[in-house]
Amino acid sequence: MENVILRPEDYRPRPPAEEITRRYGIGIVGCGSIARHAHLPAYRDFGYRVVGVCDISAESAQAAARDFNIPFWTTNLAALLEHPEVDVIDLAVPAAQRLPLVETIAAAGKHIFSQKPLALTLAEAERIVALCQEAGVTLMVNQQARWAPAHRALKALLDQGVLGHLYSVLHLHRSFQDQPGSWFVTLENFNIVDHGIHYIDLARYFTGQEPERVKATTVMVPGQVAVSPMIYTILCEYPPTAQVMTTLHFNNIVSARATHRYEWFLDGTRGSACASQTELVVSLSAAPDQRQIITLHGRWFPDAFGGSMGEMLSALAEGREPATSGRDHLRTLRIAFAAVESAKTGQAVALTAPGN
Ligand SMILES: NC(=O)c1ccc[n+]([C@@H]2O[C@H](COP(=O)([O-])OP(=O)(O)OC[C@H]3O[C@@H](n4cnc5c(N)ncnc54)[C@H](O)[C@@H]3O)[C@@H](O)[C@H]2O)c1
Repeated sequence: MENVILRPEDYRPRPPAEEITRRYGIGIVGCGSIARHAHLPAYRDFGYRVVGVCDISAESAQAAARDFNIPFWTTNLAALLEHPEVDVIDLAVPAAQRLPLVETIAAAGKHIFSQKPLALTLAEAERIVALCQEAGVTLMVNQQARWAPAHRALKALLDQGVLGHLYSVLHLHRSFQDQPGSWFVTLENFNIVDHGIHYIDLARYFTGQEPERVKATTVMVPGQVAVSPMIYTILCEYPPTAQVMTTLHFNNIVSARATHRYEWFLDGTRGSACASQTELVVSLSAAPDQRQIITLHGRWFPDAFGGSMGEMLSALAEGREPATSGRDHLRTLRIAFAAVESAKTGQAVALTAPGN
């Protein structure tokens, strides 16, 4: 089989030019788990300029500033917004807290890089997008999975035409987050709307298509802690002319850890690819019994977070909309909410053509 050439520089996220990374100052709002374990380590590795942090918990803000050598911390959002070097606010608070914070941040003229999901209802997410548009600030949602090395490697294969026409996307994911005391188990529809939104967004990223119908199945497991199901299968149906289908299966309540998996299978008319986070396997129709195994460099956590913030800074420098802008995220969210509705009603949910 002819070897597929995929070099780390084809898929590993990297920072924009230093002139850009130095130009913009970042202020973090919400110094919890994801900010301290993913955003800040990635920004340090990529050379981004974090000038201040804010949290309602003084202990969290102070710890983030201390651990990452950040010159300014506060519990007062207004003080961070008045900081002359803050251009971008990285909003890493829980989704339910976002709207009032966005109102204040947008009114102060700061650009917003928000954690996902933007909101817990489509109406509230639309309100946030409109608010930022009216205030003339850029809004990007941190759908950072698009910058994870494994996902970018798959996308590079698609873009190079190696697989031909993509007709099937299958995601198989087995993990465990039914953890007592965590916020995951108290958030309604967590597995689809909060965590699962990554995989719904990746289906859009890989296919380049918007589904016209969504079907979903979920089930509550005896004795589970989470208030909503932690397992789903979501099917996305596209217009017939797209000639592609997506199946997402995410079982996030597998207590038998030894059977955990994370895999994507992409099938095209010229070949198939299968990827975990660390390895990509490609087999081409021209040599169907052979396969090429490519060991991937880089990691989703935290590398992808450097990639997504890099996209935000590049978009600002180039005066364009970021790839995962607030408007783009609404298209991902509407699929997630349609899946929730489908699982509740047992019916397929038709999606109207997305607006601008
Ligand atoms: N992109 C990803 O892969 C990923 C992974 C995990 C979490 N997340 C998202 O990140 C967000 C935060 O998750 P987390 O796990 O870090 O939660 P967390 O509870 O650990 O941290 C949230 C932090 O926000 C602070 N906060 C709350 N309200 C605030 C306010 N009004 N002003 C300032 N600070 C405030 C809290 O004190 C806390 O320190 C959620 O939306 C979650 O879905 C994304």
